[in-house]
Amino acid sequence: MGASQAAFVAVAGFAAALLARRALAGRTADLTALATLRAPLNRVAFAARSRLGWTRGAPRLENEQKYELFDYLEGDDRRSAEATEADLRARYALELLAARSTRRAYRENLYVLSTLDRFAAPPERGARVTAIDVGSKDFVYAAAIAAFARGGDEGRTLDVTGVEIDGHVVYRDLYSRADYARAYAAQAGSGVHVRIADFLEFSTAEPAALITMFFPFVTRFALLQWGLPARDYQPAALLAHAASLLAPGGQLVIASHTHEERDALAALMADVSGLQRTASSAQDSKLVDYWQDVPERWISVYVRT
Ligand SMILES: C[S@@+](CC[C@H](N)C(=O)[O-])C[C@H]1O[C@@H](n2cnc3c(N)ncnc32)[C@H](O)[C@@H]1O
Repeated sequence: MGASQAAFVAVAGFAAALLARRALAGRTADLTALATLRAPLNRVAFAARSRLGWTRGAPRLENEQKYELFDYLEGDDRRSAEATEADLRARYALELLAARSTRRAYRENLYVLSTLDRFAAPPERGARVTAIDVGSKDFVYAAAIAAFARGGDEGRTLDVTGVEIDGHVVYRDLYSRADYARAYAAQAGSGVHVRIADFLEFSTAEPAALITMFFPFVTRFALLQWGLPARDYQPAALLAHAASLLAPGGQLVIASHTHEERDALAALMADVSGLQRTASSAQDSKLVDYWQDVPERWISVYVRT
């Protein structure tokens, strides 16, 4: 298909999706079918931003004071969040991050770190730890993954990589997702990197002790809504690839938004060999201020046998 035909198909698909959404407003619609109308636009837009590879360089990461960090909570909820923050800050040496982050970024890191701290086993003692975060978006939580991989041992060498297929999205301040991801990775310390690549084409020098996937797409609808091309909907292949990169005893930690996603994940994982599920649990973290917008969160942990 030529560029002008592709552009026409994309615009037509987008218009059809808009019209269908309007026509179906207020009714129970087949949202997957609706999202499918976006597929041509996703394909063209993804190809265009990937080819452009826009970058504005390194953004300056702002700092905000952390006074009353959980001011959206009250009573026991607030006291509990404050106690969790103090505990994680002390055990994982988060002072530097606390002093150099926005409130949102700091809370995101607390959420990710508390998830790992609660549901995953600390990486085994060793001089070097390899960890991968799949689909890391802007990698705002790079410091949390690094802190967990470090396990309080500042002498440990890290090889932590955030892998993101769609790094060239441009934000309103004209920095790209990859610009931010690289800045957050640099802030997280030495040995923390970003790769803008399809995870299916990524591998590490050494098997990984930890692979995290925070909210991977296990439904076609979610992937299309996010703006990725339909051909990138390959959850079974992604999970099998993650399993193949794990060291014996290595952990795959996966967060899901809904119980439907959790069940879809469990069905996919049933076909992945060599892994044993060690946890599947609801998570009701209030460490992020949008906790009420996400009524459910589930964490599943698998260990390579
Ligand atoms: C729902 S988002 C979650 C982002 C991030 N983990 C978070 O919790 O904020 C899923 C991410 O996975 C990325 N992704 C999807 N397929 C991928 C692939 N094959 N390789 C690398 N990244 C992928 C998407 O571009 C998106 O940024």
